[in-house]
Amino acid sequence: MSIRQLPDTLVNQIAAGEVIERPASVVKELVENALDAGARRVDIDLEEGGVRLVRVRDDGGGIAPEQLPLAVSRHATSKIASLDDLEVVATLGFRGEALPSIASVSRFAISSRLADADHGAALQVEGGRVGEVVPKAHPRGTTVEVRELFYNVPARRKFLRAERTELGHIEEWLRSLALARPDVELRVSHNGRASRRYRGGEGERLALDEGAERLVETLGEAFAQAALRVEHAMAPRAFDGAGDASPGLRLHGWIAQPTYSRASADQQYLYVNGRAVRDRSVAHAVKQAYADVLFHGRQPAYVLFLELDPARVDVNVHPAKHEVRFRDARLVHDFVYRTLHEALAGTRAGNAPLVAAVSTQAQVSRELAASVDGRQQSGLPLRVDEARDAYALLYGARADGSQPDAPLAPATVQFGAQGGYAPCPRPARTASRRSASRSPSCTASSSSPRPPTGWWWSTCTPRTSASATRS
Ligand SMILES: Nc1ncnc2c1ncn2[C@@H]1O[C@H](COP(=O)(O)OP(=O)(O)O)[C@@H](O)[C@H]1O
Ligand SMILES: [Mg+2]
Repeated sequence: MSIRQLPDTLVNQIAAGEVIERPASVVKELVENALDAGARRVDIDLEEGGVRLVRVRDDGGGIAPEQLPLAVSRHATSKIASLDDLEVVATLGFRGEALPSIASVSRFAISSRLADADHGAALQVEGGRVGEVVPKAHPRGTTVEVRELFYNVPARRKFLRAERTELGHIEEWLRSLALARPDVELRVSHNGRASRRYRGGEGERLALDEGAERLVETLGEAFAQAALRVEHAMAPRAFDGAGDASPGLRLHGWIAQPTYSRASADQQYLYVNGRAVRDRSVAHAVKQAYADVLFHGRQPAYVLFLELDPARVDVNVHPAKHEVRFRDARLVHDFVYRTLHEALAGTRAGNAPLVAAVSTQAQVSRELAASVDGRQQSGLPLRVDEARDAYALLYGARADGSQPDAPLAPATVQFGAQGGYAPCPRPARTASRRSASRSPSCTASSSSPRPPTGWWWSTCTPRTSASATRS
């Protein structure tokens, strides 16, 4: 057969084979688009496990009428414009593939209105054939309707499972999204009946709660009661001729105490810069940290958010973006291992627990309000002064010995800053197994006084000027 150019619809259907596996993939792509558009509330209506209908409506920024055909064209995106953008991409989408792929294997319609526009517009796509843009009344935001998924791809349709199974996959995806975005309200209905609602949070309430309410909503009371709050930040360090340079890293979230373990890996959520991913190296680090506190065959439960400079992680390694590649994979592995090993230290046999479990959402809010006065550590670049302040409020005195109400000298850290801050040293290797060393540069250790609630805090202290100027 001679070589020929494939028609666009077939190219999209081939791409759909990678990106759109089942109704849950449609929900994932559409809700991610809504979040990228700044939505505060997303409504998801489903019929027959999403096979008959997935409708996602958001109150985000919307799309201009003349841009609707572009939105359903292949490799058309508003999220990146150059390779430089790709290297630091912060949105969930960037490949410009989802809408054309979905539209090529369904009966598809999109309606939208920009916040400042008088009128909305709509566009239909039927099995890849794009219709005309027509005016349509629509509130601010976007609605995407996907009907009869795979109606024109019988081979794919055969792989769809029972309604309940498909619904289960969608609910699992939504749980994962809901954990990452407690600020956004998600409402789900199935076959005309409201089936799930994750309440959104804003401002102070969210800052106090830190997503703990979402934890109860998504994973239940049992997990929340066993959960330890983890917060560990390592400031970036520029290469100064001695030792390794290291990027800034932050790990936060919740890990279940060993008393709460699972038979399967069904409650293991990892997010890298807000994106839900699977990563074997991080999973291995977590497993190692739990190695001597969990029975053989049991699985830990966790919700962990890893944050780092977007330039140090490649998110473009998987069509559905389920995986990432770290530039400093070894460092990330060790950082996760040490953080969790330390956090779990108090739960080892013979040690009195150093941190109490998170109990209820209300209690968490009260305790956090009392202890950290609503402060949250910011994302990168890390502000060490904030970390020290929060630490001081928790422990009653500042790390440098001054009283909490005396002003601290600001010590903001930036990537590549000269001098920089020392990372926590690598754990010492012992004859039997690796264990985290009790390092003086890590402010939290088993011998430090612990805060009264499920809050585990550690931050690396600045290097002295003498050590920072070593040549
Ligand atoms: N819900 C939405 N709100 C606003 N714009 C949207 C929405 N969904 C899609 N878009 C626009 O359509 C474009 C194409 O979407 P998509 O095919 O998912 O690609 P990507 O998300 O990778 O850019 C997006 O870049 C965005 O500009
Ligand atoms: Mg997208």
